Amino acid sequence: MGEAMIHSLLSKKLVSPAKITVSEPRQKRREELQKHGIIVTAENRAAAQNGSIIVFSVKPQDLTSVLAELKGLLKPGQLVLSIVAGARLATISEGLTHNAIVRVMPNTPAQIGEGISVWTATPRVSQEQLEETRTILQALGKEVYVRDEKFLDMATAVSGTGPTYVFLVMEAMIDAAVHLGFPRHIAYELVTETMRGSIMFAMRSGKHPAELRNMVTSPGGTSAAALYQLEKGSLRTVLSKAIWAAYERSRSLGEDSKRTNSTVTNE
Ligand SMILES: NC(=O)c1ccc[n+]([C@@H]2O[C@H](COP(=O)([O-])OP(=O)(O)OC[C@H]3O[C@@H](n4cnc5c(N)ncnc54)[C@H](OP(=O)(O)O)[C@@H]3O)[C@@H](O)[C@H]2O)c1
Repeated sequence: MGEAMIHSLLSKKLVSPAKITVSEPRQKRREELQKHGIIVTAENRAAAQNGSIIVFSVKPQDLTSVLAELKGLLKPGQLVLSIVAGARLATISEGLTHNAIVRVMPNTPAQIGEGISVWTATPRVSQEQLEETRTILQALGKEVYVRDEKFLDMATAVSGTGPTYVFLVMEAMIDAAVHLGFPRHIAYELVTETMRGSIMFAMRSGKHPAELRNMVTSPGGTSAAALYQLEKGSLRTVLSKAIWAAYERSRSLGEDSKRTNSTVTNE
């Protein structure tokens, strides 16, 4: 995800490669990242010291050690932008003893500039920094600012984790088409184009999905037969349960990082 951000910023020429420093612990990965022409280091403190925006893109379980490493280092004008799932503004702020923090939940289509990011900020983030954040996130696709941080855990479950649900449905439909007898490459094309076309149609028509679905459901027809099985298999309930499970998980990741961080702080 961090590399997707670098790629988008560079391809949209929002920043020159010489102004990006990335810190990465693994030698092989550092060598790979050099292809972008950016500065690559293994030292988090060196990378964070002079940047105007410091992006945190580590896994949630690595956050506590990174916060401890950078604690007290950042200067008042620097902005921290975290995409770490579940990590709360207060946890990051207390862990760093720094108060200009933006928390973002992006999603993987950001890798092709088609993502959607939901974000919020601490009150100390300046107007200029808010605008800079917006520009960075727009390089990844669309962005939605929310005032209340509670929406970040919800966004994690809906849009952050959302591509996973879509990929699973896509895979299941392709497998079913192969099961019927289509060669896999044709099954893939039929399913992906159907998904793409249906989404474009829904977005352009502005109609409620139920209305669009009713338009193609003739009495005693194929859609009615298929919908009966989808409802019988509790598709809606399963999707709802999946989204709630992701939401609860995001909240508990936040609790975990808060707990570990306060343990480190108290030691
Ligand atoms: N992927 C998604 O769909 C998605 C969506 C929204 C938010 N996020 C969030 O984005 C963050 C990154 O996710 P990802 O999927 O991009 O994970 P990832 O590919 O594993 O990237 C994490 C990077 O952090 C590096 N790292 C590990 N420990 C470090 C340390 N102590 N200091 C500096 N760098 C360190 C890792 O290095 P190594 O390569 O050596 O392990 C790796 O390059 C996560 O917090 C995730 O919750 C991800």
